[in-house]
Amino acid sequence: MRIGIDFGTSYSAAAAVVDGQLELVRFGEERQFRTAVFFPEVVPDFDDFVLTPALEAQVETIIRATRADERRTGRTPRSEGEVRRDAIRVVRRQWMEERLREAASSSVASFQDALFGEEAVEAYLEEGTGNLIESPKSMFGYKLDPRVRKTIVSIAAHILEHVRLTATRQFGTPVREAVIGRPVEFRSSMGPAGGDQALGILREAAGIAGFDGVSFLEEPAAAAMHYHLSLAGRQRALIVDIGGGTTDVAYAELGAGQAPVMHRSWGLPRGGTDLDVGMSLHAFMPLFGKDVAGVPVHHFVEAASVHNLPKQREFRKQDYRRVDEPFASRLRALQGTGATTRLNQQAERVKIELSGAGEASASLDFIEPGLAVSAGGGDFHAASEDFLDRMARLLDEARVDIADAPASIFLTGGTSRSPQVRDRVAASFPGIPVVHGDPSLGVVSGLAQAALLPVSSNVSSAS
Ligand SMILES: Nc1ncnc2c1ncn2[C@@H]1O[C@H](COP(=O)(O)OP(=O)(O)OP(=O)(O)O)[C@@H](O)[C@H]1O
Ligand SMILES: [Mg+2]
Repeated sequence: MRIGIDFGTSYSAAAAVVDGQLELVRFGEERQFRTAVFFPEVVPDFDDFVLTPALEAQVETIIRATRADERRTGRTPRSEGEVRRDAIRVVRRQWMEERLREAASSSVASFQDALFGEEAVEAYLEEGTGNLIESPKSMFGYKLDPRVRKTIVSIAAHILEHVRLTATRQFGTPVREAVIGRPVEFRSSMGPAGGDQALGILREAAGIAGFDGVSFLEEPAAAAMHYHLSLAGRQRALIVDIGGGTTDVAYAELGAGQAPVMHRSWGLPRGGTDLDVGMSLHAFMPLFGKDVAGVPVHHFVEAASVHNLPKQREFRKQDYRRVDEPFASRLRALQGTGATTRLNQQAERVKIELSGAGEASASLDFIEPGLAVSAGGGDFHAASEDFLDRMARLLDEARVDIADAPASIFLTGGTSRSPQVRDRVAASFPGIPVVHGDPSLGVVSGLAQAALLPVSSNVSSAS
């Protein structure tokens, strides 16, 4: 059986068309789950290395061997400090290799204990140890060293396996194939090569997860296939999907029971998670000394970027003991396990509340008793300005590229729930009717339709 999978930056979902009916896969009670996974095992980190008496004994053994070697060969003896530093380096490397071997051999057990979605986030915050990986899709297109790439592949594989097994149970038949959604442009630090890497990671992960065959369909093209079914007459429509990590646009000829034709697509690798970072930097980080305490601003960006593991690690390594109070204590509390995740949850919640205008507040008791943020419409504006400008430029580009005005705009994606975002889309196409699809399910519903078609002819393209 073939299903459609929307592997989203923030939320993932899956569906199939069974006997002509769209059936969404249920994850517990929900029709989507947060794209987060929690592994109880601790991944080894060089920073955890401590010279225990046993390791100190290994250092001494290496120092004695070095001295013996010097005497035997008649080499000039090196200084005490130098020999000891080298010996510690060797012991530290052996220690790390040992940890990696242990992690590799226990990974099967640890991965079986993996939790997904909100449950994953809660377990991480409650247990205070282990690893939480949120929005792994954000990292697919980044330059990754081979070890990190392997970890990312196995995380994606676990998510896809979770989807495959849940769907297999629900449909009562083995699910072995999938049409997986992809953004027009992946978030990438390597230009188009990042997109190739992202697809490579997804393909490899799907293989590990037990899929015999996968194909990919651009997310806005999938949303177009869903919209297509609701159109009695033939029309040219613009599809706009504003998600957590990316904003995707497609121009397609749809409706009237004829095959849909995709004409063009445009992508912006920015979305709702960038608004969260904006909200965090604008409304939360000043309480931690941003712009006042002499701490370089990139530290705050690293702290706010919860979806970027290397940046998070970088932030946790900093030493803030010399920073003025109260910022030193607050920054050190923010370095504690789970604190940046909690802060990001609050920033996202404040963003969602403010996206409907008004005021919102957040308690930062987990940093300092009584510490709180209160934010208003101006804060949403400041946090979202850059994103909204970029989105408007993307829509302008689409408007110029398509000579005729579209008959309608179909809007989907979680970020399209925001009235400010909707207004901005409408302002780019004055007078064109905007149709609001289900913000969460437009893409996955279209992927389920695409899964019905033969693999080679998912959707015809005009170009
Ligand atoms: N009312 C709201 N106002 C603003 N943003 C919202 C609102 N509700 C949800 N969001 C945001 O929508 C985003 C999730 O949207 P969606 O589920 O479409 O993303 P995704 O499919 O996981 O991501 P992508 O398609 O980019 O990979 C999150 O950033 C979330 O904070
Ligand atoms: Mg999406």
